[in-house]
Amino acid sequence: MIKTGIFISLEGIDGSGKSTLKEYLKEKLHAKFQVIDVREPGGTIISEKIRELLLDIKNEGIEPKTEAILYAAARAQVVEEVIRPALLDNKIVIADRFMDSTIAYQGYGRGLDISFLHELNSLCTGGLKPDITLLLDISPEEGQKRKITDIPDRLEKEGIEFQQKVRNGYLQIAKENLQRIKVIQADRDLEAVKNEAMQHIKDIITDRREKHELF
Ligand code: TMP
Repeated sequence: MIKTGIFISLEGIDGSGKSTLKEYLKEKLHAKFQVIDVREPGGTIISEKIRELLLDIKNEGIEPKTEAILYAAARAQVVEEVIRPALLDNKIVIADRFMDSTIAYQGYGRGLDISFLHELNSLCTGGLKPDITLLLDISPEEGQKRKITDIPDRLEKEGIEFQQKVRNGYLQIAKENLQRIKVIQADRDLEAVKNEAMQHIKDIITDRREKHELF
C-alpha cells in the first residue's frame, strides 16, 4: 500500500480569504505534522516568473489560451519540483489554488473548452489531485470589499461580472466533485470558517489513518 502525505488545496474567488486560512491551517497542523505551503501560480523560481507575467496589468494582450497554458506551465513546475517530492516525504502540502482555478477562471470565466482544460491539467499534474479541496464561497461584491486595500492585478481588474462567472463555475465544479470538494461559506465570522475547515481536515486525517494510508 502506498503511504504519502496529504494534499490540501484552497480555492475561491479573489478576496475569499484563502491566504488567511492557509496561514491558520499551517500553524495548526505544524504542531503534529511537517507542513509546507505553496501558492499558485508560484512556489518555485520559474513559476514565480510566470506569475509575474500573468498578473502584470501591462500584459493586456494575453490570449485566453496563452493564459491557460502559462498557468499550466507554472503548475507543472511546482508539482514536480515541490509538491510531489513533499508528498512522497510524508508531508502535508497546502496549496493556495490548484487545478480547479484553471477550470473556474479559464473555463467558466474566459469561456475556454472545459475538456481541453481537463486534459491540460492532467498533463501538467501527471494526474495528481488534491486529497481535499476547501472552496471558500463568497459573493464577488464581498470579495472585492475585502481586497479594497490591494492594487488589483490583471485578473482582479476583470471586475464583478467575471468574478461572478468564476464563482458559479466553482460551485458547478464542487457539485461534480462532492467527495473531494467541501464548500465553506466564507462570508461568516472568521472563527466559524477556520473551525469548519479544520474539521474537514481532521476528518481526512482520521480516515487516512483508519485505512493505514497515512505516513
Ligand atoms: P492570487 O494569488 O491573488 O490568488 O492570484 C492569482 C490569480 O490568478 C487569481 O486572480 C486567480 C488567477 N488564476 C487563474 O486564472 N487560473 C489559475 O489556474 C490559477 C492558479 C490562478
